[in-house]
Amino acid sequence: MIFMNKEKFREFYKKSVAERQQIVTEEFSLSPEEKALLQKEGSLSLEIANRMIENVVGTFPFPYGVATNFVIDGKEIIIPFAIEEPSVVAAASNAARLSSGFETSADEPIMIGQIQIVKCKNPNAAVKKILAKKKELLEIARGADVTLLNSGGGPRKLLGVVLPTERGKMVALQLLVDVRDAMGANAVNTMLEKMAPRIEEISGGQVRLRIISNLALHRKARAKAVWAKKMLEESTKGQMKGEEVVEAILDAHEFAKASQLRATTSNKGIMNGIDAVVIATGNDFRAIESGAHSFAAYKKEYGPLTKFYKNKNGDLVGEIELPIATGLIGGATKTHPMAQLSLKILGVKTAQELARIIAAVGLAQNFAALRALATEGIQRGHMRLHSKNVAIMAGAKGKEIEVVSEKMVEAKEVNSAKASQILKELRERKK
Ligand code: MEV
Repeated sequence: MIFMNKEKFREFYKKSVAERQQIVTEEFSLSPEEKALLQKEGSLSLEIANRMIENVVGTFPFPYGVATNFVIDGKEIIIPFAIEEPSVVAAASNAARLSSGFETSADEPIMIGQIQIVKCKNPNAAVKKILAKKKELLEIARGADVTLLNSGGGPRKLLGVVLPTERGKMVALQLLVDVRDAMGANAVNTMLEKMAPRIEEISGGQVRLRIISNLALHRKARAKAVWAKKMLEESTKGQMKGEEVVEAILDAHEFAKASQLRATTSNKGIMNGIDAVVIATGNDFRAIESGAHSFAAYKKEYGPLTKFYKNKNGDLVGEIELPIATGLIGGATKTHPMAQLSLKILGVKTAQELARIIAAVGLAQNFAALRALATEGIQRGHMRLHSKNVAIMAGAKGKEIEVVSEKMVEAKEVNSAKASQILKELRERKK
């Protein structure tokens, strides 16, 4: 453990980025090269980063790649991914190439805000009183965001229930808000806070939490695609019949329905693609993640977010449905220059269009993982990319990288000891 001089980190937020970098350099004995890493500016400048979060000392770049071959609702779309994991972009592009294209849809962008009320003498009566003043309360909410009203959004409904809890009965209100092209957290939370004082007066209780729900139940997106047997057979280079691949994928899907251990991993694969697009567009991937997994267990046991079945031709059909609360305005979508670039590449005009593309990516990613797992396994593809990194780490340079990587994959042994051994042999042979 490094004992640091905490004094220097007091009121860190008041220091300039350069001052903070100097403190970190001294406290953690950074070399000039390491300090330069903090100072290096890429597409996100330190100045913008410093306006986005607190105590900024640098930026942290991710690989940024584009998935190809996607035809979504008849339109060819190039999709930017920001992700550190090898094979995800390639897998999505390949799944899209093998598919018949994606049909998608998305709900209106309705988010749910929650207000918790405690200490009501009669919680049921409190709900009734609040709902009787619905019109007045919705008017207060409307006043909280004029820009949203001007763009056609705004509060739509107020609902209330009584929750039995271990600390007594509580009232939970739901404010449904059409947030148009925003993710919606700011708009909804502001409305809830504006409404709270009047709600306390009406209910006689105490308002506690006023916060958006990340389970965006009314803001779901869907995608559907067909993978023809012929394409599936081709994808195995004739090693398996198309029918066999379909059956193997259906077995894989059934496995996820029956096992939560498997469903979690299957959904993780879906989120590989979804998060990558969500990050590339500057959206909140934690919100999307929590919403997706919660939806996977909504009023049922946790299960896969996708469905797979055979159509009458025996081809494979895949479907996905999940809440996708992503926006085009506000937050990092506006401030991060790469997010703006991603939106330009995607050519989307509304948050709903973005959600539809993201749903298609999630489905493609799941199909790709299931196809690979149910046929040759995923390690071959993974290992090919990974092996290059291992070769570099073992000291391979230039052409050696390819040779060492190939030999490790051939030997089905991708690790640093094997890389060093191959490299040593290679260099000895050259002498
Ligand atoms: C790895 O990041 C994702 C997979 O594990 C997904 C899956 O198992 O379906 C390959």
